[in-house]
Amino acid sequence: MSTEDPKARWQETTSTLGERSAYKKVWDRQSQDAEVAVLAVAGHTDEATLDVTAASFIETLEQTVGLDPNDVILEIGCGVARVGKPLSRRCLHWFGADISSGMLGHAARRLSDRPNTTLVELATVGLQEFPRDAFDLVYCTIVFMHLFEWDRYRYVEEAFRVLRPGGRLYVDNFPLDSAHGWNVFTEGTRYPLDRRPAHISMASTREELGIYLRKAGFTDVRVHDLPNELIAATGRKPE
Ligand SMILES: C[S@@+](CC[C@H](N)C(=O)[O-])C[C@H]1O[C@@H](n2cnc3c(N)ncnc32)[C@H](O)[C@@H]1O
Repeated sequence: MSTEDPKARWQETTSTLGERSAYKKVWDRQSQDAEVAVLAVAGHTDEATLDVTAASFIETLEQTVGLDPNDVILEIGCGVARVGKPLSRRCLHWFGADISSGMLGHAARRLSDRPNTTLVELATVGLQEFPRDAFDLVYCTIVFMHLFEWDRYRYVEEAFRVLRPGGRLYVDNFPLDSAHGWNVFTEGTRYPLDRRPAHISMASTREELGIYLRKAGFTDVRVHDLPNELIAATGRKPE
């Protein structure tokens, strides 16, 4: 391949960028052993801290979209079931979907004493494994920062399909305009162009998240500023 051919040079560039879209490969690499998986999911390896952050997230769900003991719930990008493990005690059934079989293996071990849970490996971006109108609540936390914008929207569209009428959606990301968001962004600028990790965290804006939900058909769309410097968008599928 001639490096003088601009089309070939362009294709080389897009294939490097494409590593980010190889979500299965990227995240299976990060889940080869339990400690690395928890580190990749939460930034630490301490089980007690996992429980504390999960409890705090469940409180966020309660305050934004509400929780009901009869809810059938789906988490998109469930990782090691940090949230699913305690949340399964608060709902009828919890489904965890993830693109990485490695992550799901760790989740399965952590959920071995939870009969009302089901783990599903996603073949690709989307919720094609699930039928329409199946869930009361769909949520996705600490995942959008690792996805391209098209794939973030794809999950919002798909959540609309699999939610029953009246069902609720919660998605979050970090915003560029917080101290934390700006730190993450400036850290990213330090990588040489060809060495940026495929899973590097990328911010959202409040407008972006709100647009996704409205375009997908959700009503009662609200964008929340959370105490932990995340922003979340919530909405409801019309009855
Ligand atoms: C930082 S972890 C968060 C896990 C979990 N939501 C939590 O809060 O503990 C990101 C998760 O998203 C999953 N993931 C990455 N890309 C994905 C994709 N395109 N579709 C579904 N899951 C994906 C990864 O395998 C990983 O388990």
